[in-house]
Amino acid sequence: MELISSLQSFLFLLFLSIYVYFYFCTTPSKSSKLNGFKTYPILGTLPEFLKNRHRFLEWTTEILRNCPTNTAVFRRPGKIHGVITANPSNVEHMLKTNFENYPKGERFISLLQDFLGGGIFNVDGELWKVQRKTASYAFNTKSLRNFAMENVRLEIQTRLVPILSRASETGCRLDLQDVLERFAFDNICKMAFNVDPACLGGQGKTATEFMQAFEDAATLISGRFLYAFQFIRNLKKFFNIGSERRVRESIATVHNFADNIIKCRMENSSDHQQDDDLLSRFIGNENNNSPEFLRDIIISMILAGRDTTSSALSWFFWILSSRPNVQSNILRELETIRVRNGKSIGDAYGLDQLRDMHYLQAAISEAMRLYPPVPVDTKACLNDDVMPDGTVVRKGWFVTYHAYAMGRMERIWGEDCHEYLPERWLGEDGTCQQESAFRFPVFHAGPRMCLGKDLAFIQMKSIAACVIERFEIDVQDKDTCPAHLLSMTLRIKGGLPVSVRKRCV
Ligand code: HEM
Repeated sequence: MELISSLQSFLFLLFLSIYVYFYFCTTPSKSSKLNGFKTYPILGTLPEFLKNRHRFLEWTTEILRNCPTNTAVFRRPGKIHGVITANPSNVEHMLKTNFENYPKGERFISLLQDFLGGGIFNVDGELWKVQRKTASYAFNTKSLRNFAMENVRLEIQTRLVPILSRASETGCRLDLQDVLERFAFDNICKMAFNVDPACLGGQGKTATEFMQAFEDAATLISGRFLYAFQFIRNLKKFFNIGSERRVRESIATVHNFADNIIKCRMENSSDHQQDDDLLSRFIGNENNNSPEFLRDIIISMILAGRDTTSSALSWFFWILSSRPNVQSNILRELETIRVRNGKSIGDAYGLDQLRDMHYLQAAISEAMRLYPPVPVDTKACLNDDVMPDGTVVRKGWFVTYHAYAMGRMERIWGEDCHEYLPERWLGEDGTCQQESAFRFPVFHAGPRMCLGKDLAFIQMKSIAACVIERFEIDVQDKDTCPAHLLSMTLRIKGGLPVSVRKRCV
């Protein structure tokens, strides 16, 4: 009897070992590659996730490219299942047609709660609707656009140009990504609460601490999404150790800075009634203007506007450095606009002139197609659903649309999808064409579409035009694609070291 039982145990272990061996030690079969992620019993996609999470974007892009409808199901232990898609019909379904079924969800909200509280970026339902209404109104006013234009002009003339000129005179290398991030941070703080942190000039010490703390909090918090087991994070949080301790400290610095500004503004609110910044518009909304609420919404705005434009422009300048033909086309377009409007190099461009820069708009959009500042974006599924391509989604699963992969799908952009071709955006009359937001969801789509898209283009085109017409930017190692750092936005790992020369005119 004992012998039979031992034999049974032996056979069981033998079969188990063979099973595990084939799952863990063999390369994925062609069919499993075709059908998405390689999945193991009990562990689901976890082993593959752990093996590839350092190259998450490339790995998931390869998987989606090989799936029949560019959509794959992801299974991890602990009921964290989900769908990742690069299929425009599915994107339209989740962001617009069945919008109510795909909120940010509890998991997302709870991971960002300590940083963003109840700000627009981190709420669903009624709380979101109320903020969206006030914010949409504010973003559509002419006064906010003028305020933004004026801030961009000042930052370019008094900080960006002097820094680049100095670099061209001294021959010192610059980290262009860092310069652009400081520019964007100064700009969004001005727009959010009319405070100039002067991070680009390097004078504002407290503000530079604020910027650094904001940066640390955003990076560490995005790391929370990549934990294989959430209990590890919970333990760190409970004992206040490691990254969770650093997050707590960074958040305290950010909140302190914002609280002081808001307190000061509320105390002197009568003097600031005419201010054009976003804070004034929310203070003016009597339904919801507690100091905590104001802080949350302002922090959400800074997060939204901070790294996005700098990420887009950093990749754009890297791409441009090895494409003299694209630079020449931009220079020709700028010259035509200057001549038509009686302007000289160095004069600021107005809104209409920025609108006329179709080739530049195409060149920036094309850079964002390949390097979207928000490369993946995730929602939660409220109730069981079926996507237009037939993928079943269960209640509680996450659903991610993959903008980075979508820019690399032949089905969307054709066989030359890997090539950088601004011309693909231009119509026969040379104007930049609108692309469907579901094929190009770089600014999101549907009811939660980015509110800052127009302002972002004002900023990006103003900076690009000014830099390109005055300076030649030479990127170190321009022929090697830089590694990226996946924070909340797609940043270049190690920055973008460049040398600057004044352009001969
Ligand atoms: C290249 C620049 C930008 C890109 C690529 C971009 C992209 C995005 C994306 C993908 C979202 C959706 C995030 C989500 O809720 O899941 C978003 C939302 C948002 N963006 Fe932008 N953004 C940019 C610039 C800006 C700027 C400059 C501002 C503000 C000045 C801004 C304000 C917002 C706001 C307020 C939302 C939240 C909308 C809502 O939840 O209803 N964005 N943006």
